[in-house]
Amino acid sequence: MFGKVKASASKNATLPILAACLLTDKTCVIKKVPILQDVKTMIGLLKALGADVTLDDNNLTIHAGNDLALEAPYEIVSKMRASYYVLGPLLARFHKAKVYLPGGCAIGPRPIDLHIKGMESLGASVRIEHGYIATEAPVLKGTNILLEGSLGPSVGATANVMMAATLSHGTTTIISAALEPEIVDLANFLNTLGAKIEGAGSSNIKITGVKELNGGEWTPIPDRIEVGTLACAAIVTQGHIEIENCLPEHLGVVIMKFKEMGCDISETDTSIIINSKYRAKASSIVTAPFPGFPTDLQAQFMSALVTAEGISFVTENIFKSRFLHALELNRMGAKINIEDNVAIVTGVEKLSGAKVMASDLRASAALVIAGLSAQGETEVSRIYHLDRGYEQLETKLQNLGAKIERVAGKN
Ligand code: UD1
Repeated sequence: MFGKVKASASKNATLPILAACLLTDKTCVIKKVPILQDVKTMIGLLKALGADVTLDDNNLTIHAGNDLALEAPYEIVSKMRASYYVLGPLLARFHKAKVYLPGGCAIGPRPIDLHIKGMESLGASVRIEHGYIATEAPVLKGTNILLEGSLGPSVGATANVMMAATLSHGTTTIISAALEPEIVDLANFLNTLGAKIEGAGSSNIKITGVKELNGGEWTPIPDRIEVGTLACAAIVTQGHIEIENCLPEHLGVVIMKFKEMGCDISETDTSIIINSKYRAKASSIVTAPFPGFPTDLQAQFMSALVTAEGISFVTENIFKSRFLHALELNRMGAKINIEDNVAIVTGVEKLSGAKVMASDLRASAALVIAGLSAQGETEVSRIYHLDRGYEQLETKLQNLGAKIERVAGKN
């Protein structure tokens, strides 16, 4: 693969930012949003709650008036876990919210105890009834909240509690907050609306409640996971590509790992160039909260390791059973053994194309990457998983010279 490609804005930054627009009755314009299925689902949810949302050329205008429904419908929430981001904003602005309880998913159990703990600490009552999480609070009161779970900080809980606390009385400090760039982006957006948030990007975030928020404009940060995905595709095809609209500072460990694999990488402030002339070398990763190696790139990285020279260890510490892609990669000739939360990958010379099935969003990208390097044809089914989180991935890959097409009538 050769040439230039532009990454889209981050899905995981855009979703909470869209939910945050519910915190104000003034108009918000979110620019350059990636038009992918999860964003469409969030737009559907905002509309179902009664917000006016218009889309014009990747720019979204959102106006959430004072007459909103306070219950997120099952039909929408069941499609996307990130729907729980509306809980904090609705509770803060309308004192009441009800959201269908998200269950586990293909990547394993995904509890929401920290979200509940956060809302309760702010003074809300939380009930679980009929499959819903229902929360209420005549007034939210600032306090100190320790948001650390057994597996470390939570991105979702940090975002939800931060949004709720913007309209609380007094000052809230989230202790052991998630450090992810998407949290910083959300805080920066909220601050443009008039929120008073300090320390986002560190493990203590201080939020001084304000009475109300204004409207504003925002462009979410580039998608570091899409950048990593495209880079893995370049590595397995021994390509030379430049990825624009990227913030290399968000990809520190990932870039180091690519270099460890023998790739030439150069960076500017807003792009990276990946030159992968030779067969990659083995490299081991351990997923961890930011600034560690992101769990959302583990599957794609594994697809690059399966044909690397030597033995690699992939340790998954965030979602411990997030290895369904490994079984499909083995069907393509990879040699991966799973022991608990560690995948031992013995590099093979070549994969062979096969019919494979995507099990979740990042696994689907991993299978596409494997297909690009495999001998013969690979058919990835259930690509609705891919469409949840990537904007026109196949077009971007085609433009870089990959032989990939979407087959009409199949999904
Ligand atoms: C977000 C991302 C997801 C990414 C994940 C980890 C979005 C929309 N999703 O998901 O793509 O894979 O961060 O970087 O941005 N946990 C608890 N209790 C809770 C919440 C989480 O124990 O209440 C645990 C989880 O099971 C997991 C860990 O904490 O082991 C991290 O989860 P979390 O950061 O909350 O992930 P999400 O916000 O769901």
